[in-house]
Amino acid sequence: MSAKRAVDVTVTDLTLEEKASLTSGASFWHTTPIERLGIPSIMVTDGPHGLRKQRDGGDHLGLGDSVPATCFPPAVALGSSWDVDLIHRVGEALGTETSIEDVAVLLGPGLNIKRSPLCGRNFEYFSEDPVISGVLGAAIVKGIQSKGVGTSLKHFAANNQEDDRMRVSSDVDARPLREIYLRGFQRVVQEAQPWTVMCSYNRINGVYASEDPWLLTRVLRDEWGFDGLVVSDWGAVNERVPSIAAGMDLEMPSSNGITDAQIVAAVKDGSVDESVVDTAAGRVLDLVRKYQAGAGSVEGPLDVDAHHALAREAAGRGIVLLKNDTRGPEGSTVLPLSKNARIAVIGEFADKPRYQGAGSSMINPTRLDSALDEIRALASGEVAYAQGFSNSVTVSADETAELRDAAVVAASAAEVAVLFLGLPARLESEGYDRDDIDLPAEQLALVDAVLEVKPDTVVVLSNGGVVALPFADRVPAILEAWLLGQAGGGATADVLFGDVNPSAKLTETMPLRLEDTPAFLDFPGEFSHTRYGEGLFVGYRWYDARRMEVAFPFGHGRSYTTFGYGDASAEVAGDGSVSVTLALTNTGDRAGREVVQVYTSLPGGLVQRPLRELKAFASVALEPGETRTVTLVVHREDLAYWDVRVDRWVVEGGSYAIEIGASSRDIRATAEVELEGDALRVPLSRSSSLAEVMAHPVVGGMVQAAIAQMMGEMDSAASIMPEGVDMSRMMASFPIGRAGMFAAGDPNASITPELIEGLIAMANAPQG
Ligand code: BGC
Repeated sequence: MSAKRAVDVTVTDLTLEEKASLTSGASFWHTTPIERLGIPSIMVTDGPHGLRKQRDGGDHLGLGDSVPATCFPPAVALGSSWDVDLIHRVGEALGTETSIEDVAVLLGPGLNIKRSPLCGRNFEYFSEDPVISGVLGAAIVKGIQSKGVGTSLKHFAANNQEDDRMRVSSDVDARPLREIYLRGFQRVVQEAQPWTVMCSYNRINGVYASEDPWLLTRVLRDEWGFDGLVVSDWGAVNERVPSIAAGMDLEMPSSNGITDAQIVAAVKDGSVDESVVDTAAGRVLDLVRKYQAGAGSVEGPLDVDAHHALAREAAGRGIVLLKNDTRGPEGSTVLPLSKNARIAVIGEFADKPRYQGAGSSMINPTRLDSALDEIRALASGEVAYAQGFSNSVTVSADETAELRDAAVVAASAAEVAVLFLGLPARLESEGYDRDDIDLPAEQLALVDAVLEVKPDTVVVLSNGGVVALPFADRVPAILEAWLLGQAGGGATADVLFGDVNPSAKLTETMPLRLEDTPAFLDFPGEFSHTRYGEGLFVGYRWYDARRMEVAFPFGHGRSYTTFGYGDASAEVAGDGSVSVTLALTNTGDRAGREVVQVYTSLPGGLVQRPLRELKAFASVALEPGETRTVTLVVHREDLAYWDVRVDRWVVEGGSYAIEIGASSRDIRATAEVELEGDALRVPLSRSSSLAEVMAHPVVGGMVQAAIAQMMGEMDSAASIMPEGVDMSRMMASFPIGRAGMFAAGDPNASITPELIEGLIAMANAPQG
């Protein structure tokens, strides 16, 4: 036994076989120990919205029973709060539970973009927008890691569907890949330095994420500065040797030594340099050291009540009030409910909550509230309950009719009906996607039947991915309650009665029809390829560009109070960021929070851009009548587009339109700001167009003069072109090399092949 503690051990102390063994798991959840040197095995486990620590000796699929832990709201609900501080606090609580259980890394957050509402795992992701995902992802990582334990940012990258997830190639162009699918990951890496990043199962443009040196090394480490460890998703390694060479450090779960032996053999036969193994093993040692430094920083036992209370607070902040119509001359609304009202609670979800999605993120909760119990606990009037429908697959048509009739009776006898609808658990799961976005037919029939006897009906939805709401115009009030975690029942009661004023907003668009959605024609692809044909136009970017109606737009969410937006101003700060300032007033009679959103666009810019893109947001709490000056900062780098000509981010100069909204389709104030662009010199070649050459900072002027001379020499009277034909536009797209060929042999030509070669050389010469 060595006297050294693991913290002192370096890769030079290890044999090749030991190094290889360190870079794959010892079991489903543990890294490999090296007892000779006192290097311990450390545990990593799911994640993301709670700790799923399987009891000792867990099953080989990793799905069995786990120790009780607080089930916080999954990302779909937590993200709807748009609240960095709240999410940081939830992160701290998750870190605390992870530390108490002596787990080194909590496997989350999930940062993938919701490309299609059909993705079976959307409940685990924050948004269709990369700025929200990045900002909220960074907040939760910082919160968790503040407790001395690590996170795993997943699933890196472009893992936007579950069907065929272990093989499918996400075929995506450079701009959407950078600007939509990688942008959030980049932000979390750079702002929060997660201890680990988990590479995804899928391929990107034909290459497995687990064996892609461009993704795992060039982008992640060289460009973004990631200095942690890359772990494979469980079973994501296709070929181990190319994986480790690409920068995939730790294969999980255990490969039972089989792929470790492949690495040893590859080093011995010279096909892989030993330094590659040293690097990966060194990163595993770093992770062990981080664990040792942080281990035990939080002592148990877990304060179950305090964490349940936080779970309730977070859940309440995740419920989106989609609508709450005013009725009658006095403008009353159905919500919030009076505690004295006679209420009929209808729908199985009220009694048997759906509070998380199926798959690897299923937490064994410390307790579980039902909305029905919690409504009864807060109400002083009579609360009747009818099941309304059954989520069982074996329910008969007769039983369904009976359940519906009983619900109608309950609704008739009440002053208000609260109808809990949603997706049965089997429809949303890791591992497969949905086929449609519809609620079950018996639930839609139930809405119609209840509305007939009780127009004062509130719908509460339990779903992880968005659903179509064909009844939206006929129901006066709708709460989108997502999957809310273990305390969601209490949180729903809080919002229904107004003890909590709803303040959540949609981080994804609710479309009218599946056919309207951006990826409709390209999801889930065929023969293991899915083409991201909608390009940059994901989520609201699509509906806005095509000027389509939606059910509820991105960023939408109502409150029981109202907010007034003052005029906005915008200015460029010294570091190039843009500060947007406005006065926000709570114009109603209850305390509430508003999520203020800043969108930008650059009309007439060089590249194709969405009509508006979210760049900053803030959740602001205001007492009734209170006014506050709110300042939101747009980072300069968030205004950049990915320029495929030079393969880098570029901020284009120009006059940016700034829109400040209560949603993406409820813009309340505007401003404008002039930005200087990044210096950009695109190399010229013989195939550069005349327009590109004329715009070049060094040679553009000369070429413009030569063209002007040429045009002047042309005898317009002899031209056969119709009047008004734009000759300069016609010439603009002419490759300059070929323009030169036209002049070859003409002694009077102003643009000769020699001149062109000279211009190109001058343009591309290093600037001195
Ligand atoms: C999931 C990951 C999870 C891992 C371990 C995989 O199937 O995609 O998100 O962390 O299993 O359970």
